Amino acid sequence: MSRKIHIFDTTLRDGEQSPGFSMSLGQKLRVARALSDLNVDVIEAGFPAASPGDFEAVRAIADEIQGPVIAGLCRTIPGDIERTIEALEPAKNARIHTFISTSPIHRRQKLKMNREQVLQHAINGVKLAVAACSDVEFSAEDAIRTEREYLAEVMQAVIEAGATTVNIPDTVGYSTPSEMYDLFSWLSETVPGIGNVRISTHCHNDLGLAVANSLAAVEGGASQIECALNGIGERAGNCSLEEVVMALRTRADHYDVDVDVDTRRLTAASHLLAAVTGNFVPRNKAIVGENAFAHEAGIHQHGMLASPETYEIMKPEDVGMLPSQLVLGKHSGHHAVVDRAKQMGYDLEEDEIEAIMERFKALADVKKRVFDSDLEAIITGFETGTIGPWSLNWLSVVSRVNGETEPSASLTLAHEDGTTSTHTGDGDGPVDAMVEALELVTGFKIKVLSLAMRSISLGEDAQGEANMRATVDGVEFNGHGLSTDIVAACAEALLEIINRATRNAERDRQTDAA
Ligand code: KIV
Ligand code: ZN
Repeated sequence: MSRKIHIFDTTLRDGEQSPGFSMSLGQKLRVARALSDLNVDVIEAGFPAASPGDFEAVRAIADEIQGPVIAGLCRTIPGDIERTIEALEPAKNARIHTFISTSPIHRRQKLKMNREQVLQHAINGVKLAVAACSDVEFSAEDAIRTEREYLAEVMQAVIEAGATTVNIPDTVGYSTPSEMYDLFSWLSETVPGIGNVRISTHCHNDLGLAVANSLAAVEGGASQIECALNGIGERAGNCSLEEVVMALRTRADHYDVDVDVDTRRLTAASHLLAAVTGNFVPRNKAIVGENAFAHEAGIHQHGMLASPETYEIMKPEDVGMLPSQLVLGKHSGHHAVVDRAKQMGYDLEEDEIEAIMERFKALADVKKRVFDSDLEAIITGFETGTIGPWSLNWLSVVSRVNGETEPSASLTLAHEDGTTSTHTGDGDGPVDAMVEALELVTGFKIKVLSLAMRSISLGEDAQGEANMRATVDGVEFNGHGLSTDIVAACAEALLEIINRATRNAERDRQTDAA
């Protein structure tokens, strides 16, 4: 029987902590559900001691998600560990993941500790975690740049202290595949007791080697891979989940290992993450990019017609990429929409269906042809419970090319308390003008950091999707908008940002008052 490789997903921790990928609680829960549907073995839900928001997210995920183990990250210090124990309390299967840096550069420059002190911290942290939880992972941060003998000594000590998984991260993305193979093989043979625990790899992608290094670690004896959807994570990111899983599956002849991931849900999970974080998946991204299975050159198309095996090593349906279809229209009912979403890898929750149907019907009224990609954009862009307090009643925008008229935007916003406000803003362009009008309505100071737009599906009535990042009174938020009018899509994205900011400010006020 083949050896099982455990897939430990860190999208919601290492991924979420990187700039431009922050998520609200509702968004984290949606991604956690998609990861659970993918059947990953472990979901690292966050770093509970990092902030109250992280704590709440780990607790909510631990409370709801039943299948995978839910892990919380913490330093080896008691306060962090106690906070993590508290956050994981509702989990059916919990893991405490505790870490300390072991490399000379981190010991000296960051921790100001010597080897013995780091070793003691590691042992004490693991002992404290083991007293509360039977599943404890220890990570030696910057393990790759740690002296080998010392790394082995730390590993032996934490195993003796009760760790059930030991992780050897390439924190700075410095290693090469042959070095990884060599180190993992050496540790597997050298460290007493390591055969009784899980050995984990956690690679960063600074040199574009995270997937290759993770695969080399597996060949050297690793039985857990830490990875993230779309490869998100600190700096250049982590090992990409979809790539590493499909490499192990497609080259099972070479690796001879098993992974339990339901690969037919990879595209849906990847696209959901892209939509909630406002970062489009590049067209040429392996496995889940739009071009991953597109054959353009005539000679390739000829080969594909003769037999798909000429140019395809995987089937698009194996990763959940369906040929785009013109499936739905104005008269499609609830069942047709829910069924098609399911085929695409999205299991809609009861409370989502009604709102998604409402958006679908509104789109089908203005758009002759509704494609899978339109439905997917509605599903991934939708978030339960985040509507309001503001909604857009009316918008009129003036743009300018070489003319006399200044770009301007007039809009009316309705507040859920029943009031409405109308204002006009000016600016260098229509988005700038909308920002000014929204500042006048809300009193916020808004600064747009990035705006990405793309067209979804085909035809002159194709929908436009806008992903925006902006600071509101200095705090960063993402917004997503979808409309057959691209300016209206930008307005929707801005509206989502001010709604998030308003709810945030309201939550802070309630916390201060309590
Ligand atoms: O990159 C790293 O070393 C980490 C650890 C905390 C596991 O993210
Ligand atoms: Zn990391």
